[in-house]
Order: sequence, then C-alpha cells, then structure tokens
Amino acid sequence: MLFLSLFGPPGAGKGTQAQKISEKYNIIHLSTGDLIRQEIAKETELGRQAEEIIRKGQLLPDDTVMNMVYHIIGSHPEANGVLFDGFPRTVHQAEMLDNYLQTLGGHVLDALISIEVPKEELIRRIQGRAVLEGRSDDTLEGLENRFREYDSKTIPVADYYRKQNRYYSVDGLLTIDEVFRDITGIIERE
Ligand code: AP5
Ligand code: MG
Repeated sequence: MLFLSLFGPPGAGKGTQAQKISEKYNIIHLSTGDLIRQEIAKETELGRQAEEIIRKGQLLPDDTVMNMVYHIIGSHPEANGVLFDGFPRTVHQAEMLDNYLQTLGGHVLDALISIEVPKEELIRRIQGRAVLEGRSDDTLEGLENRFREYDSKTIPVADYYRKQNRYYSVDGLLTIDEVFRDITGIIERE
C-alpha cells in the first residue's frame, strides 16, 4: 500500500494536485478539510462544533481529526493506498499516524510532498477561489489565522519527516501540469 501526503500552506494547490494524483494511482484522496466541510454541510454534531473553528481559520483538535482518518482508512480495506491532503498538520497528528500505519501492517508514510508557493501568490489564489467557491474561511481574517496556524503548528511537521528522509518538495509556482509532473516524478522514484 502506498501512503502519501501533500503538504503546504493554504492555496498551495494540495486539493488540485490530490485529485489528479489519486486518479492516476487509483488511491483514496483523503482531505481532512473536505471531510470537515461535509460534516458542516450535513449539519452533524461534529459539523456544528467545527463550523466556528473552521470559519476562524483555526485547527480542529487532533483527536477529532484522527478519528475521521481512522474511520476512512478502516472502511476501505480494499484500497491500494491513501493520499492525504492537509494532513498531518501537527507533529502530534504525524506521530499518531505513524503508530496507526505501523499497527495496520508495518506501513509508513512513504513521502510527505511539500508544495512551495510564496505568500503573495497564495493570497492571490485564495482571493480568486473565494469568488468562485465562497468558502467560509476564505476571508482576510480567516486566511491570516490559517497562515498563523500553519507557521506555528504545521511547519514543524516538515522537519519531523525530514529527519526520517521522507520529505520532498516541489515548486508550486509552476503550472498545474508541471507541478503534477514533478510530484509523479517523486512518487515514481520512491
Ligand atoms: P483545508 O481544507 O486543508 O484548507 P487549506 O490548508 O487552507 O488549503 P486550501 O484548501 O485552501 O488550499 P489547497 O492547497 O488545497 O489549494 P487548492 O488546490 O484549492 O483546511 C481547512 C480547515 O480545516 C483548516 O483551517 C482547519 O480548520 C481544518 N482542518 C483541515 N485539516 C485539518 C487537520 N489535519 N487538523 C486540524 N484541522 C484541520 O488551490 C487554490 C487555488 O489556486 C484554486 O483556485 C486553484 O485552482 C489554484 N491553483 C492551484 N494550483 C495552481 C497553480 N499551479 N497555478 C495557478 N493556480 C493554481
Ligand atoms: Mg484544499
């Protein structure tokens, strides 16, 4: 089984690339952000609790996120692999993922692939998407908080995998097709 994670700040292109990569390799696309937005849309108890947190651009509690991840992986025993999008986002999530993959059959996260884009371009992209999709956190305030959470809690995840030699990066300023080509290059060298 293949376990990959697309990593990067808000607007880097994780979702865009995850869709293409999961199709090419026939693996599950597991976006924790999409899962939470689905819970909000379905007005579940979890959705009600998450709504305000997501709108403000803060991270959900690690345990809440881990339970969603365990549930999705556990309910797809036939899967060829999983591509995480926006997960793990804290070092604690990364440690819990490692333990889980280990108990699942001695697996590891094969690669954390970071999509690198400067902040000015991220803001431009999110402003463009805000008009099209109207996500509750695609506001100036939401975005500022998402950047703050990313810098303080998520960046350390890159170091965590760098120490395990499982960290890779691609230039996210290239076109969507060029970024895709570079990510598949990394996966195929793995
Ligand atoms: P999440 O949904 O993961 O959002 P995010 O990390 O803020 O990232 P985005 O989805 O905004 O950007 P993206 O990188 O997917 O870019 P996209 O492909 O859309 O998380 C949302 C919230 O959920 C969090 O704030 C938190 O509250 C909660 N959450 C989620 N996971 C969590 C976790 N693990 N722990 C705790 N809380 C969690 O692209 C952006 C735009 O750019 C698009 O319009 C696209 O068309 C365009 N674009 C993409 N690539 C290119 C390119 N190469 N050139 C030009 N334009 C491009
Ligand atoms: Mg996304």
